Amino acid sequence: MADIEGLVEARDVTPSATQGAGGFYIKGSDHLDWGMKNRLARIIKPDTGRTVMLAVDHGYFQGPTSGLEIMERTLEPLIPYADCLMLTRGILRTSVPPGCQAPIVLRVSGGNSVLSELSNETWNVSSQDCIRLNVSGMALSIYVGAEHEHQTLVAFSDLIDAGHDAGIPILAVTAVGRDMVRDARYLSLASRMAAEMGANIVKTYYCENFERVTSTCPVPIVMAGGKKLPEIEALTMAYNAVTQGAVGVDMGRNIFQSDCPIGMINAVRAVVHYNEKPESAIKIYEDEKKKTSAA
Ligand code: R5P
Repeated sequence: MADIEGLVEARDVTPSATQGAGGFYIKGSDHLDWGMKNRLARIIKPDTGRTVMLAVDHGYFQGPTSGLEIMERTLEPLIPYADCLMLTRGILRTSVPPGCQAPIVLRVSGGNSVLSELSNETWNVSSQDCIRLNVSGMALSIYVGAEHEHQTLVAFSDLIDAGHDAGIPILAVTAVGRDMVRDARYLSLASRMAAEMGANIVKTYYCENFERVTSTCPVPIVMAGGKKLPEIEALTMAYNAVTQGAVGVDMGRNIFQSDCPIGMINAVRAVVHYNEKPESAIKIYEDEKKKTSAA
């Protein structure tokens, strides 16, 4: 039994005290349970409400992608600057040190390849394995408007149920596919559908009138990077996305295929977390590049 002798009466119980009160800073997440919120807060940083996710999951359907041939070589220098890593369980188990402090959003869909119909994809990693791997989020692609749309949407619904059971947030990857017209009409359709089905974060492409996509989606949007662009263009795209309502980026090739990946990820961080203009953020990349080539 606890020793109650000397027990002091509780202090600070003024009516203005706000213990337990307060909304959650991540859009659409205020009514979620603590575990979901805590995992989301590992992905989307509490100090800025933004995130720079590093996408390195390309191999799940396209094999040894340029820049990702030897994963440790690419990842080791970049991990300290990534707010989150998006990758497959195969790469997590083989190529990421378990001491890694970056939260993991695990790709849990596959079943297709670059040689076949891309949309022929489904949920392929159990939530039990995700718990075992201590992931902060699970990611699955939905192919709205593509041949296997229905199959991917059904898999997505099942994953949402599993995510709620486990307390693991779900990231929907939208607008992937060869023939999609990635305009605001299509991207807002796919993003809103994902949120209505229960996604906690939506990854989608940047487009003209991007505000239409972000403003009609009740959960945070992260911008997908897409094919490698000149650094200033990729930074401009990231700047436009965050100033038009995205909470950050989930970028791959524009970082790891850059001739100075560390400079580039730090330039992206400046844009995403501090609204740095692309013209000044590019200097972070250029300075790092000069330093590296002088060494
Ligand atoms: C999309 O389906 C996958 O997550 C990609 O592997 C990833 O989004 C690609 O990133 P990025 O287009 O920036 O290279």
